[in-house]
Formats: sequence, C-alpha cells, structure tokens
Amino acid sequence: MNTSTTILDLPENISIADKYRYWYDFMENEVSFNREDSPLHARPHCRRVLFLALKLSEKMGLTEREKDILCLAAVFHDSRREDEGLDKGHGLRAAEYYGHYCTVNNLPFVPEVHLICAYHDHDDSEGIADITHLIENAEGCIRLYRVFKDADALDRFRLGPNGLDVRFLRNAQALELVETAKEMLPRSEFR
Ligand SMILES: [Fe+2]
Ligand SMILES: [Fe+2]
Repeated sequence: MNTSTTILDLPENISIADKYRYWYDFMENEVSFNREDSPLHARPHCRRVLFLALKLSEKMGLTEREKDILCLAAVFHDSRREDEGLDKGHGLRAAEYYGHYCTVNNLPFVPEVHLICAYHDHDDSEGIADITHLIENAEGCIRLYRVFKDADALDRFRLGPNGLDVRFLRNAQALELVETAKEMLPRSEFR
C-alpha cells in the first residue's frame, strides 16, 4: 500500500484521484514514448496535463465521458514527438498511434481523442476550422479541444516562471488553476 502523502490526498483533489490514478497506470502500462528522456514532453509533462485536465473538467462540469476523452488525449498527445521544438506534426503522429492502439487492442475508437491529439499542435483557428468539417456536431469536440489546450498550456511553467502568458488561456476556469499549476511543478511525481 502506498502510504506517502501526495497532492492527490489534499481534500480538494480527492474527487479526481481515482480517475487520475486509472489513467496514470494506463499511460505507464500501455503508452510508449518516442522520446522517453525528453526533458519537456515525456511522461511527467503528460501526468501534469492529465491532472490539470481533470481539475479543469471538474470546474467546467464536464461529463465522465468528456473527462475520459481528455484523459486519453493527455496520455497520448506528446508520445510521438521527434524533438523538443514545435515539431508540428507530432500531434497527428500521436493521433495515428492512438488509432493504431485501438485497432490492435480491439478497443472502441473515439474520434474526439483522435482530433484533439491531431490538432493540439495547431493554432486554435486552424484546428477549429478543420475539426468543424471532420466530425458531426463539432461543437462538443471543439469545446473539449479548447479545454485540452488550456490544460496543456497550464504546464508551460515547466519552461520557466514566465512560461505561460495567461492572456492566451481560453477558458475562465483555467485562470483559477494558474497557481495550482505553478505549485505542483516541484512535486509533480505523484500517484
Ligand atoms: Fe504537443
Ligand atoms: Fe503537451
């Protein structure tokens, strides 16, 4: 039994702890990373995005299905990076890897996960324009796309104290998580 206390044990995080741990284990056991040693985009980053996506989901009143879509995007989205720069196209590679994973494991393919991964490395306007044409009733997917991009952006403090310009956050609820995102960085190895 794990007896050490982590930020998941804080009263305000208990409601997301089970889902966080489920997807943490899924990433550990099922998802491979092209660049395991990437200082900025490997598992620790994806764990923080997972945590922040769940916090944001809760603040925004998302459904369990919507939360799971964001969790899947969090654990796959940077798994196929080739370098530490913009590496445009790593989103599409991650989306294809996710699709392949579903096929090989005979799991239901969730189009929203594919689209969020594929377009997370594009400008919002580009991503939203394409998603609009690629899925029926795109509104819900676009909403999740914007939530995911905020969760990913909130971890920009890993780049330095000025890593995130909060004016670029898309959802007001993300602003409420800025301090959380800063404070969790030094203790982000939690489960
Ligand atoms: Fe990325
Ligand atoms: Fe990322």
